[in-house]
Amino acid sequence: MTSTAPLRAELARHYDLTPSLAAAEATRAIYDRMSRVISFADWARHAPYVLAINRLKAERDAVVLAHNYMTPDIYHGIADVVGDSLQLAIEATKVKAQVIVQCGVHFMAETSKILNPAKTVLMPDMEAGCSLAESITPAGIAEMRARYPGAPVVSYVNTTAEVKAASDVCCTSSNAAQIVAAMPVDTVIMTPDQYLAQNVAKQVPWKRIVWWEGSCIVHERFTAQDLRDFREFQPDTTIIAHPECPPDVLAEADFAGSTSGIIDYVTRNRPAKAMLVTECSMASNISDALPDVEFVGPCNMCPYMKMITLEKVLWSLHSMTTPVEVEAEVAARARIAVERMIDLSRKAAA
Ligand code: 13P
Ligand code: SF4
Repeated sequence: MTSTAPLRAELARHYDLTPSLAAAEATRAIYDRMSRVISFADWARHAPYVLAINRLKAERDAVVLAHNYMTPDIYHGIADVVGDSLQLAIEATKVKAQVIVQCGVHFMAETSKILNPAKTVLMPDMEAGCSLAESITPAGIAEMRARYPGAPVVSYVNTTAEVKAASDVCCTSSNAAQIVAAMPVDTVIMTPDQYLAQNVAKQVPWKRIVWWEGSCIVHERFTAQDLRDFREFQPDTTIIAHPECPPDVLAEADFAGSTSGIIDYVTRNRPAKAMLVTECSMASNISDALPDVEFVGPCNMCPYMKMITLEKVLWSLHSMTTPVEVEAEVAARARIAVERMIDLSRKAAA
């Protein structure tokens, strides 16, 4: 059940979800982590859901893994673990609880299931996809292999389990350059993000990188001219971009990194003004922890990430829907590609 009105009506039969200042007060410690971006009156609407979800998590022996693009009510209110794609994948391998609720997009839930198949992995909205994951199929991988015989296929984790299974190794935005550098041949195929591939090509110039033409609908919308205009207007702004942006956008930035890399950079450097060239919830989630940083400039919403709401998470835990399944043979091959990535990235960090 994903549409809001019937979902609300059904949930109201089981839980008291009326906006409540008492519930808001009872969860003030949580609210204090997002008071710069959410009003207390608004929190009074969210707090009953947060209380109900956190109670239900204990009853169902569940943990919530949440991506950095979740809204602050999810990120601060109900998440047990937050992180970028690599961190969430690594954390999924360590989960002891019986149930994982994946607050993120579908490929992330599949990755958790692949890495920890004994667990029930719940997706609060199965429609929460990703333009990159949708851009390639195993047939696309076969086409690239035929075009570049002998070249290994490095696929972004933003892919389906079937595509991971057809790949040699996965990568995320935080380890893509290390993974490509570790390939023992000169030509490397990167799928499906053309911009990540072009950005990695600059970091690993001794490799010939060929790519699939996919892109992220959120990051491809930023332009280098936007950033130049912004700099002219506010020259003291530190610009930080995600590597899914086109290379000319990254060329205008002071730093580029994964979502957690961006959070670490701003936390360590404390620029007076920061522009996060990525999804909008990133600045909202760290705004209260960094009161000395003013977040400025444009951001874009990921329509898929924003499909995950407190209501849907509560319904997911209440009804234990929808469990993500990956066919055993596909999961076994996909696990090899994901585990190879985790191993290579640990070796590179050691
Ligand atoms: P990160 O691995 O940097 O969190 O990126 C995931 C993603 O989907 C960004 O668009
Ligand atoms: Fe996919 Fe882009 Fe959304 Fe990330 S931000 S989930 S890459 S569409």
